Amino acid sequence: MGRLESKVAIITGGARGIGRATAEIFGREGAKIIIWDMLEAGHQTAQELRDQGYVAEFMQLSITDVPALEAAARDIFERYGQIDILVNNAGITRDKSLLKMSFEEWHQVIDVNLTGVFNCTKTIVPYMVERQFGRIICTSSVVGQVGNFGQTNYVATKAAIIGMVKTWAKELGKYNITANAVAPGFIKTDMTDLIPEEVRNQTVAGIPVKCMGLPEDIANAYLYLASDEASYVNGHTLSVNGGVA
Ligand SMILES: NC(=O)c1ccc[n+]([C@@H]2O[C@H](COP(=O)([O-])OP(=O)(O)OC[C@H]3O[C@@H](n4cnc5c(N)ncnc54)[C@H](O)[C@@H]3O)[C@@H](O)[C@H]2O)c1
Repeated sequence: MGRLESKVAIITGGARGIGRATAEIFGREGAKIIIWDMLEAGHQTAQELRDQGYVAEFMQLSITDVPALEAAARDIFERYGQIDILVNNAGITRDKSLLKMSFEEWHQVIDVNLTGVFNCTKTIVPYMVERQFGRIICTSSVVGQVGNFGQTNYVATKAAIIGMVKTWAKELGKYNITANAVAPGFIKTDMTDLIPEEVRNQTVAGIPVKCMGLPEDIANAYLYLASDEASYVNGHTLSVNGGVA
């Protein structure tokens, strides 16, 4: 019996990276997976999950598009009769120091990493309330806890996540809905592949365990927070960062 048997889980940003690893692990644990992502690659990801025998589908949308989210959520609820888990994992970076960052770069990151998380949660929570069960998991970052050079926009969103899950924990606990966050450290994905090698090596040198994390390290933390084992964990941010902070 899997740890997420008979649960329906929406994973944003599940086409690749941490979200994709999460879809695989949640599928293995018996959840039915719905991936929300903008990337065409989501079709292939969902097919590969089905090839492994999991129930998985892909809906191509942006988490900034509220009407698309509302239509997708309605469709899922009509077909599955439940939405149990929301993993707000999608995120982007537009890194520049404050002096160089444009207003557009600020807004792009706020729109996806902060407003996108609000959009998805606001859309899904009424379905969770209806069934008096829900697990909301959001992706923060170690940089939201300690700050980072060149990431004013990104850090603002990742720090905000920590406050939002504490608020949702207080508002939604009475409906048997928990809200928690995971704060990853430096994880090997397409996002961190964008960072110049020299900077990556310097960053790894500063991590006590002396290596980058893997997408599965974060997916396993999401799994714990989505599982029954974490039913009394609420409003928490779980650091998964090799001891860097
Ligand atoms: N990789 C790291 O070191 C690291 C560290 C801390 C936090 N995080 C966070 O973990 C999460 C996953 O990161 P990753 O490294 O797997 O990144 P990634 O770039 O590999 O994957 C992110 C996914 O989000 C999707 N996405 C982006 N904007 C979207 C939108 N508007 N609507 C729908 N989908 C959208 C992308 O298409 C992509 O598939 C992000 O929130 C990121 O900020 C990553």
